[in-house]
Amino acid sequence: MTTATTPEPGQAGDEAAPSAPRLEQFEEGITLDRFITETANAHPENKGKFSALLRQVSLASRLVSARVNRAGLLGMFGGTGEVNVQGEYVQKLDEYANTAFKRALDHAGCVCAIASEEDEEPYYVPERFHSGRYVFAMDPLDGSSNIDVNATIGTIFAVFRRKSPEGTPADIDDILRPGTEIVAAGYTIYGSGTMMVLSTGEGVHGFTLDPAVGEFFLSHPDIRLQPSAKLYSVNEGYAASWTPAMRGWIEGIKMPGAGWAQRYIGSLVADFHRNLLKGGIFLYPATKKNPEGKLRLLYEAFPLAFLAEQAGGAATDGRRRVLDLQPDQLHTRTPLIIGNKDNVDEVTRLLSAEGGP
Ligand code: AHG
Ligand code: MN
Ligand code: MN
Repeated sequence: MTTATTPEPGQAGDEAAPSAPRLEQFEEGITLDRFITETANAHPENKGKFSALLRQVSLASRLVSARVNRAGLLGMFGGTGEVNVQGEYVQKLDEYANTAFKRALDHAGCVCAIASEEDEEPYYVPERFHSGRYVFAMDPLDGSSNIDVNATIGTIFAVFRRKSPEGTPADIDDILRPGTEIVAAGYTIYGSGTMMVLSTGEGVHGFTLDPAVGEFFLSHPDIRLQPSAKLYSVNEGYAASWTPAMRGWIEGIKMPGAGWAQRYIGSLVADFHRNLLKGGIFLYPATKKNPEGKLRLLYEAFPLAFLAEQAGGAATDGRRRVLDLQPDQLHTRTPLIIGNKDNVDEVTRLLSAEGGP
C-alpha cells in the first residue's frame, strides 16, 4: 500500500525532509566521539584541546538532558527565587545547566574563560587548573519559560580561540570578539529527543542521543537550508510596536494565496532547530521601545548565525550581518532575523531601506 505524503505547511513538497534514520543505522554509525576524533586528526595543531572541549560539552549536555527528562520528578520545575543580570527569574534548571557546563569545562585544561547568560561577569579559569586556549560562551538553558510545561529547551554555545597566550590569565578582550572569529558553535536541544547540532566550520551536523547507551550518534549529516521557505516564526503579540516595514512584510506574506505558515514556540533554540530542518525564517526584530531587540549577541545570536551560514542560510540584525557585529558588553543584545538566505535578504532590504526603528 502506498500512502501519499503531505508536505508541512509552508514547505514545498520537493523540499520535504528525508525519511528519518533508523535505530540500526545509529548502531552501525558514527558516534559524536568518533566525529570529534576525526576532526582532531584533521587539525593536529589543536593539540587535542579542542577535542577535550567538545567531549566535555557532550558530557554536560548528557547530564542536563537526564535532569530535564526527570525534572518533574526531582522537584526541578519552578524558579530559584533569584533574578539574573538580565532581570529574568532564574529557573532551577537554568542554575543546574549553568553549573553543569562550567564544572565540565573548568578543570579540563581546554578553556580560559566561560561567559554565561546567567552570570553577570565572565568566569576566568584559574591558572592552577590551566588557563586553556579556548573561550566558551553559552546560554546554558534557552527557553526557560517553557521548562514547566515540558516544551522544548536547549543549550546554545559558541567557541573562540583566545587572543592572549595560553597559560596566562584571560581577560575581557578574549571574550568580546566579532562572530567572524568563532571556531565552533552549536546547541543541544532537549525535546522529544535530545540532539546536538554542531559546526566546527565544516558544515552543520546533527547527533541524536541514544539515552539507553548515553551516546550521541550522527543522525543528520550535512544539514542544508534551501534558499527560501514559506514559514515564519515571530511573536506577533508585539506587532503594534514593530516598525512599519516589519509590519508591512508580515502583512504581505499573510495575503490570501501567499501560502505562508507560522510557527512560534518561544524557545529560540527550538524555533531555530525546526526552521533549520524544515525551512523557515525566525524574527526577533527591534521595536521602538527596544531598538536593540531582546536576544543576546554573544551566546544566542552568534552561535545560531554561525550555524545558519554554515548551512547556507543567513542572519542579520535587520541591516548588518550578525557575524560582523562586535559585542561591547558581555550581555549586549541584538535584533535577529535568521533562516533561509533569500528570505533573510528580503527582510533585511526592507528594514535597511527604512533606516532602523
Ligand atoms: P532565555 O530563556 O534564555 O532567557 O531566552 C528566552 C528567549 C528566547 O528563547 C525566545 O526566542 C524569546 O526569549 C521569546 O521571547 P518572547 O516571549 O518575547 O517572544
Ligand atoms: Mn535564551
Ligand atoms: Mn537562558
